[in-house]
Amino acid sequence: MSNIKAVITGVGAYVPEYVLNNHELSQMVDTSDEWIMSRVGIKERRILKGENQGVSVMGAKAVEELLKKTNTSPDEIDLLLCSTVTPDMPFPPTANIIADKVGIKGGFHFDINAACSGFIYTLITAQKFVESGQYKKVIVVSAEKMSSIVDYTDRTTCPLFGDAATAVMLEPTTENIGIQDYIARSDGMGRNHLYLQGGGSCFPASHQTVDEGKHFIWQDGPTVFKHAVSKMADVSVEIMERNNLKAEDLSWLVPHQANLRIIDATARRMGLDPEKVMINIERYGNTTSATIPLCLWEWEKQLKKGDNIILSAFGAGFTWGTIYLKWGYDGDKL
Ligand code: UT7
Repeated sequence: MSNIKAVITGVGAYVPEYVLNNHELSQMVDTSDEWIMSRVGIKERRILKGENQGVSVMGAKAVEELLKKTNTSPDEIDLLLCSTVTPDMPFPPTANIIADKVGIKGGFHFDINAACSGFIYTLITAQKFVESGQYKKVIVVSAEKMSSIVDYTDRTTCPLFGDAATAVMLEPTTENIGIQDYIARSDGMGRNHLYLQGGGSCFPASHQTVDEGKHFIWQDGPTVFKHAVSKMADVSVEIMERNNLKAEDLSWLVPHQANLRIIDATARRMGLDPEKVMINIERYGNTTSATIPLCLWEWEKQLKKGDNIILSAFGAGFTWGTIYLKWGYDGDKL
């Protein structure tokens, strides 16, 4: 087995300026700050405004910040992967659009769609390329313009989601840092409980699909909640056990930010103190595959080389998974 490990060497992000708060939402649909805060834990979310502004606009800004922070030139990039459920368009891959926008000419680039587990799945994919020894600088972009697929007349989904983009750099190391272990799981029965039906080959866009609201997210919230709350905690505990990690060995849990109650339940099952859990759902809502790296970006200043960190997510599909890593550097890179 190769002794090369893949380590995150930088984090960039971009969040749009516009803040949609619960007060404004409660004037659009029959909801309240009290309901949203008590059932989900979200106060506000960011929305990308402007005509024809696709997710790549945000993704490119996140990559530009990452390149600057890591002092990397675009032509050093071997591979750029993009996890998203809101690509600019069905094809070409948004990864290619972002690469072009930031001036990356070489390497190869493609998208991965694993819904809210997109960062976990894509980081694992990138890890394999880096550990092969052939790829030295790999960027994982997780970018979502959820506002483009949310029905702002549906109170059961519109408070939940927000827009954001993130980018992390993955590089090889022979030190004992970086990704140590992972668990990734899927169960296709979940496809009936959280989806967007329209615009694919099953329901191509038509007047009828528009009239029937098929181009918006649909979720059976309580069923998704039931699976998320157990499965995210199951894999998080499993990865601790098989790496002989006790709660006191962990510096941070970085959970997917879909619902504060799911996050709390996961941390409790892991035996973690609340102050070791990164939580920013209150300010950004659920940004799908971007939530975990958005936390890393916000907490970067506090992170130290060698910190034991567990990342965990659950999402549509169903998809879920966890990564155990040792952080690669001290503080932020600016
Ligand atoms: O990130 C991908 C994975 N997704 C998740 O992990 C999400 C998992 N699910 C959840 O987080 C929760 O199920 C939701 C936050 C989506 C919903 O919370 P809930 O506690 O499961 O509520 P519910 O759907 O069971 O609805 C309870 C009540 C209903 O009213 P009745 O039928 O009891 O009269 C809803 O109509 O709350 C009502 N309701 C609302 N009321 C005010 C639903 N949405 C709202 C709202 N404001 N925005």
